[in-house]
Amino acid sequence: MSQTRRKFINTFLGVGGVGSLIAIFYPIFSFLIPPKIAEAKVKSVKIGSVSDFQPNSSKIVKFGRKPVIIVRTKEGEFSALEATCTHLDCIVQFNEDTSQILCACHNGIYDIKGRNLSGPPPKPLTEFEVTIIDDEIVITQPG
Ligand code: FES
Repeated sequence: MSQTRRKFINTFLGVGGVGSLIAIFYPIFSFLIPPKIAEAKVKSVKIGSVSDFQPNSSKIVKFGRKPVIIVRTKEGEFSALEATCTHLDCIVQFNEDTSQILCACHNGIYDIKGRNLSGPPPKPLTEFEVTIIDDEIVITQPG
């Protein structure tokens, strides 16, 4: 009889221990290995109206998970470039004094169309197409 009780208690503690381990490690594994969720295949995104952007200014918007820098030049033209530097993935910024795109991490400089001017970045920034429809600015992914 006592052998049966001991067996029952050992089994009960064993199941409880395994349950506790699962309760502790499952959230950790779920965090470390997130489920694969496909990113929405969006080609175009509305980013605001023309009046939201002052001449000679910039703003960073999201295109899915990608940051995109929107620049409105002194002349009022728009440019949209992927804002991740092609060197080591820092976020670029618009220099209003020089009208150039600057990566402050290692002093990479691009022109307003994303072409390399100086510094270590190996490739140009990806340029998005900018369309203005009824005062709304729409950016479209290339390709
Ligand atoms: S990360 Fe931009 S220049 Fe190095």
